[in-house]
Amino acid sequence: MKASRLFQQDILSATQFTRSDLEDISERTLKLREMPRKKRRKLLQDIVITDLFYEPSSRTSSSFESAAKYLGGNVIAINGVEYSSVSKGETLEDTVRTFQSYSDLIVLRHKETGAAERAARVMKKPLINAGDGEGEHPTQALLDIFTITQELGDIDGLTITMVGDLKRGRTVHALAKLLSLYRVRLRFVSPRVLAMPEEIKTYLHEHRVPFEESHSLEASLSDSDVVYMTRTQRERPTGNKADDDAIQSARQFVLNRDLMKRTMKKRMIVMHPFPRNEEIALDVDADPRAAYFRQIENGLYIRMALLTMVLGTN
Ligand code: NCD
Repeated sequence: MKASRLFQQDILSATQFTRSDLEDISERTLKLREMPRKKRRKLLQDIVITDLFYEPSSRTSSSFESAAKYLGGNVIAINGVEYSSVSKGETLEDTVRTFQSYSDLIVLRHKETGAAERAARVMKKPLINAGDGEGEHPTQALLDIFTITQELGDIDGLTITMVGDLKRGRTVHALAKLLSLYRVRLRFVSPRVLAMPEEIKTYLHEHRVPFEESHSLEASLSDSDVVYMTRTQRERPTGNKADDDAIQSARQFVLNRDLMKRTMKKRMIVMHPFPRNEEIALDVDADPRAAYFRQIENGLYIRMALLTMVLGTN
């Protein structure tokens, strides 16, 4: 297979991808999913990656670790930064400079928006942004796009409704930007205090993506092809007491079986980046339209594909 356009590139933002990149990623993901284990584990032989996580994570860090290991690579996993020397007052810049000497690539999660870009600026080796504060989560957006394609075929023509904490949820920021490569209609359902940030709405205007905002979940479901639920990001205070109080008392949108039965199309899917809190009732899990566990599994193969593309071993 020819070298990817992503070879030795950082993965920082959903805005860096073209539709042809997405097709390339999808093709490789499907190939890796079907590939016999024996063949797969030769692809990252002798490669070392560092998982550097400054914020709690289970799915993203483990899926990168698992992807690298299934491909025969090795992983330095720094998950509890508070227990490592990174907590001894070292700057992010010094830490990534250190770990690039020990490995071929760094996967970084950080609580500050823009941290991935800051780190990449001082690095020679590629960096993958695994979530920067309220900023972006580009690899989640890639697996979300892949999931929609797998589940519903074409993305063009779909109505995609994002629900919950759209202000602070980085997954919906990255996904909205990536979806601007398609002919879609977006709908944002949130309490007023947790609305989609102006910056994302401006981006969508500039890319001529039609979208609307709503404060009613029930009224937003019947024509949705994808309903993308998110949790309230309680660990990210706004720094403004009045806003935090308003968020505390804001009404939560909860999807349950009864609401699905009453309102939703037969052919549609419910997604969630996880972890889930109370926004999707457990009785939704048995519905075939609940795609979130399949979405999680897709994350593993998407990350395998990305690692092979960036490290050029496919
Ligand atoms: C998300 C994240 O970390 O942004 N989790 C994930 O990576 N799947 C979503 C969240 O924390 O709500």
